[in-house]
Amino acid sequence: MLTNNPVLEKKRNFSIPLRKCLLATVTMTLFMQQLIAQSATKFFNNKDLMQVGTYYYPEQWPESNWERDIKKMSDLGFEFTHYGEFAWAVMEPEEGKYNFEWLDKAIALASKYKVKVVLCTPTPTPPVWLTQKHPDVLMVNAEGRTIQHGARQQASWSSKTYRQYIEKIVTVLAKRYGNNPTIWGWQIDNEPSHYGNEYDYSENAQKAFHDWLKKKYQNIDDLNKSWGNAFWSILYNNFEQIRIPNGKELVAQPNPHAVLDFKRFTADEAADFVLYQRDILRKYVKPEQWITTNLMPTYPAVDPLRMKSLDVESYTKYLVAGYDSGHGEQGFRMGSSSSIGFSNDLFRSINGLSGVMELQPGQVNWGLFNPQTMPGAVRMWMYHVMAGGNKFVCNYRFRQPLSGGEQYHYGIMKTDGVTVSRSGDEYIKVINELELLRKAYKPTAFPAILTKRKAAILYSIDSRWEMDNQPQTNQWNYMEHVNRYYNGLKALGSPVDVIDESKDFSAYPFLVVPAFQLLDYKLVDRWRTYVQNGGNLIITCRTGQKDREGHLWEASFQQPILDLIGAEEIYYDHLPVSLKGKISSGNDSFEWNNWGDILKPSTASVWAKYEDQFYKGKAAVLNRKLGLGTVTYIGSDTDDGKLERKMLQKVYQQAGVSTLNLPEGVLVEYCDGFWYGLNYSSQNQNIPVPANGKIIIGQRILKPAEVVVWRE
Ligand code: GAL
Repeated sequence: MLTNNPVLEKKRNFSIPLRKCLLATVTMTLFMQQLIAQSATKFFNNKDLMQVGTYYYPEQWPESNWERDIKKMSDLGFEFTHYGEFAWAVMEPEEGKYNFEWLDKAIALASKYKVKVVLCTPTPTPPVWLTQKHPDVLMVNAEGRTIQHGARQQASWSSKTYRQYIEKIVTVLAKRYGNNPTIWGWQIDNEPSHYGNEYDYSENAQKAFHDWLKKKYQNIDDLNKSWGNAFWSILYNNFEQIRIPNGKELVAQPNPHAVLDFKRFTADEAADFVLYQRDILRKYVKPEQWITTNLMPTYPAVDPLRMKSLDVESYTKYLVAGYDSGHGEQGFRMGSSSSIGFSNDLFRSINGLSGVMELQPGQVNWGLFNPQTMPGAVRMWMYHVMAGGNKFVCNYRFRQPLSGGEQYHYGIMKTDGVTVSRSGDEYIKVINELELLRKAYKPTAFPAILTKRKAAILYSIDSRWEMDNQPQTNQWNYMEHVNRYYNGLKALGSPVDVIDESKDFSAYPFLVVPAFQLLDYKLVDRWRTYVQNGGNLIITCRTGQKDREGHLWEASFQQPILDLIGAEEIYYDHLPVSLKGKISSGNDSFEWNNWGDILKPSTASVWAKYEDQFYKGKAAVLNRKLGLGTVTYIGSDTDDGKLERKMLQKVYQQAGVSTLNLPEGVLVEYCDGFWYGLNYSSQNQNIPVPANGKIIIGQRILKPAEVVVWRE
């Protein structure tokens, strides 16, 4: 199981003289680049840019259709397909009786038509004979209901019995196809999660949680102390007495430390479930076949960073399903510009190799409501995926199903199985345009201006979990908070990596640390060193309120960061939804509503102050110079992100780095020698293609959902 490693933590945090540090950084960066370049050549060719695939379920269609469908796929230009993630009952119709003839044929057809295959382990869908024989492999939801056979993801990651069955089926698959030249890579499971049921409360999970806690705390007194169990008489005499914290069976809120540990445990279980399968596959499959899983990028119960040892990190993405209103009146047909963007920048930054395993093919069946996608949107998303450095994009799915769980879900083909759908056309357009781009590809040095603008966002899943559980105001939303900074950086035209603490900060001239609530002094020391060496650190509200275990400090509120940000004191305020507070910065004025830190500066200057409430005139944003760099603390969280964006702009100006100033929903991205302009807004937009820009696809003025690609 994966937990935070205190030894590694120590190693990361020592401070060293500047020259040594720079030398180490450069060597490390070169080493990392080499590593990434090597792995890029092992699995993927840079000159292919991004390869395009589509899902196919041979088991769902009559065998007489297969050749026609796979030939069509190939004729349309798809380079790979994807089989088997839900096919366990077809692969093993009875315990120990395997049936792979159908899969052999489907793989042979793919090979005949030169379509590579991503093959999956079928573990999200245990067959009914398995769960009826061993009902204890099923998960239990917060209401205490055992989730039954009939859909998917009903098994418990903590069931040892389930693991035994997994080991058998994965071994059989790996041995049978691990040397098959048509198999390009492997996907483990499918969107490991329990979807809306999120957490597993089964006896298996309870037991595994006890083991996890024993390993972490060693003795029950330490757990009682860390969880503050003396309050409300929660004290335990032994680990076995502990139940998974579950608001549904308690009359008041569950203990926050128990919740934090349970979320860590669940994410560890998910990672262990995936990496356990990876280890089995690796024993048998040839080294050229890469292994991934397809994650929902910001699903809260699963942590992609815990799976960083996979060969490739891949995610799934559906933007138009009634949940995301996007930018402007037609935004609901395109989704938000940060949706693919943030996922790209998070997944690519994990180990340098990423892909999008599922991309929405057009209208879906499961949304709040299911609008048509804006003509062009699917194509724009594909370009966004490519601009984010992904090695592949796979469309979900080739054929619209006629029966079963996902009727009404668009595919590349319409319901007749032979006519290309509206959004299928957009895939085919990109596939054809890719030819043009591949011809124009040449290895190019990363542009100097982007090196200067480069930013990292330091993502803290622990802080997110803690604040999701104790938001303090129902207007607080960690992901929205982070996205306000992500969008602010993107509006400046900055390349962004979303990183965790294991990364070297010095590779980034700008480091944004949003609401990093749980930390230790060592991390603050690393930030200080980063700034002293010339970095520009932007810290936001809630950072440093608690230690790693979620305790407030027995010191001033947010004590660990006070000196670094040049403040003497911080307290916070919330307003009712109906009231917008005012903040001014020079001649600019802003509204805030979600979170307001009221700051008393010591060594910092005031960049913005409150204009009303009893703390009128007090600071909301502080900035100071330290060593060769700067520290900015932004204490307020707004709805519209205007304050955040303006403050970021000010930091860049102060650092003398030129920026773009893009309208909301407009992106300019760079990858591998190509520049991309994308318009997620509801208006026409003029993309700042420079005079020396040679446009390869599109034009400078973009209608909503249009794309321009150029080289400089
Ligand atoms: C994804 C899932 C696919 C399919 C798709 C439908 O989240 O991984 O299996 O259900 O949604 O949009």
